[in-house]
Amino acid sequence: MRVAMIGTGYVGLVSGACFADFGHEVTCIDKDAGKIERLRAGVMPIYEPGLEGLVAANVREGRLFFATEAAEAVREADAVFIAVGTPSRRGDGHADLSYVYGAAEEIADQLEGFTVVVTKSTVPVGTGDEIERIIRARRPEAQFAVVSNPEFLREGAAIDDFKKPDRVVIGTEDPRAQPVMRELYRPLRPLETPILFTGRRTSELIKYAANGFLAMKITFINEMADLCEAVGADVQQVARGIGLDDRIGPKFLQAGPGYGGSCFPKDTLALVRTAADAGSPVRLIETTVAVNEARKKAMAAKIAAALGGDVRGKTVGVLGLTFKPDTDDMRDSPALDIVPTLQAMGARVQAHDPEGANEAAHLLDGVDFMDGPYEAAAGADALVILTEWNAFRALDLDRIKLLMAQPVVVDLRNVYDPTEMAASGFRYASVGRA
Ligand code: UDX
Repeated sequence: MRVAMIGTGYVGLVSGACFADFGHEVTCIDKDAGKIERLRAGVMPIYEPGLEGLVAANVREGRLFFATEAAEAVREADAVFIAVGTPSRRGDGHADLSYVYGAAEEIADQLEGFTVVVTKSTVPVGTGDEIERIIRARRPEAQFAVVSNPEFLREGAAIDDFKKPDRVVIGTEDPRAQPVMRELYRPLRPLETPILFTGRRTSELIKYAANGFLAMKITFINEMADLCEAVGADVQQVARGIGLDDRIGPKFLQAGPGYGGSCFPKDTLALVRTAADAGSPVRLIETTVAVNEARKKAMAAKIAAALGGDVRGKTVGVLGLTFKPDTDDMRDSPALDIVPTLQAMGARVQAHDPEGANEAAHLLDGVDFMDGPYEAAAGADALVILTEWNAFRALDLDRIKLLMAQPVVVDLRNVYDPTEMAASGFRYASVGRA
């Protein structure tokens, strides 16, 4: 099938490349001419494992194209995907839909023949109705259906998540759209992936409900971690003990400094706003947002406590700045709260991140970016593990101890074992463990 993908960010580029890899003919469109030029030259705008090779292979086989203008691709497309950003609106947390509505207007002007217009971006409940209204107003005679098809990709695992999804959710009231959407996802048939057809608003809400629940699950185990520290229990074992119940499941029960990223923070806020506007507030998600924000800020105090309460004039080495491993994405990373707070307390911060340093340099002032974990440990009064990159999982602890000004490690991702760290002569603090 012929697909037009509007937006070449984390969602649009991965989705476009994967649809091409499914065998469809895909044109990825972005207004940013520089970005399109770099994509045509095989240069990726984001770090996502496997993406560069996937794009190159599909460009080489003539299934994947890049353009700055949507007109031609939309005219020829069987399905046009809206995969543009829906950032949190300044100040009030509502999703900013200006890019989505702009894309809808652009699509309207070019529609030819029956076309399925698909929202791939995460959009508040009811957005599909508004997109339909915008297109209908500009082109009363056009034949089209507006469909919700949310993605559930995790950064760092996006290609795998797209090609082997737990399910595909498709929201539409228009029977004409079903065969088109089934054909798009036909390559998933051998995997017997469930294709769930729902109403459009239901599909839009499924996305927010999924992210809201996952954010709440993480926040739950983070609160259990604090309780474990207060009563002398071990949160890793609590997580394992409850996770073995298949009604709970073991995933997303890893205690840490709080969730970040481009989705959970903005989607939980948008869900809170949508619910409040609908007169049905989601108090569990409101609390999740508040607890998570407070947690990220409290982590600096935890680090200061490991240094006896006063970090003035101390050097803190930070391992990991991105919101999670295997990405260069710094959006809402806990580092953006923790590092400036430590600096405000009088600490000097040196840091290493395998992929995030470029992004981080635009967002953090006064940080010395080091080439590797050992350089970040050199001369440090405390070493903080903030993101659990694989590169930090098997450090030479004797070498680290020799390099540091004093052997203090604060492990906010529970990468190491308290007993082993004590045996290696470190003063070791972690999350939810004695
Ligand atoms: C998330 C959803 O998982 C994905 O389905 C959706 O499409 C986009 O948002 P992403 O934000 O890329 O994906 O990463 P994810 O792996 O979900 O982690 C989100 C945050 O939660 C990260 O800050 C991560 O460190 C944190 N996290 C995750 C935990 O603290 N503990 C966990 O057990 C899991």
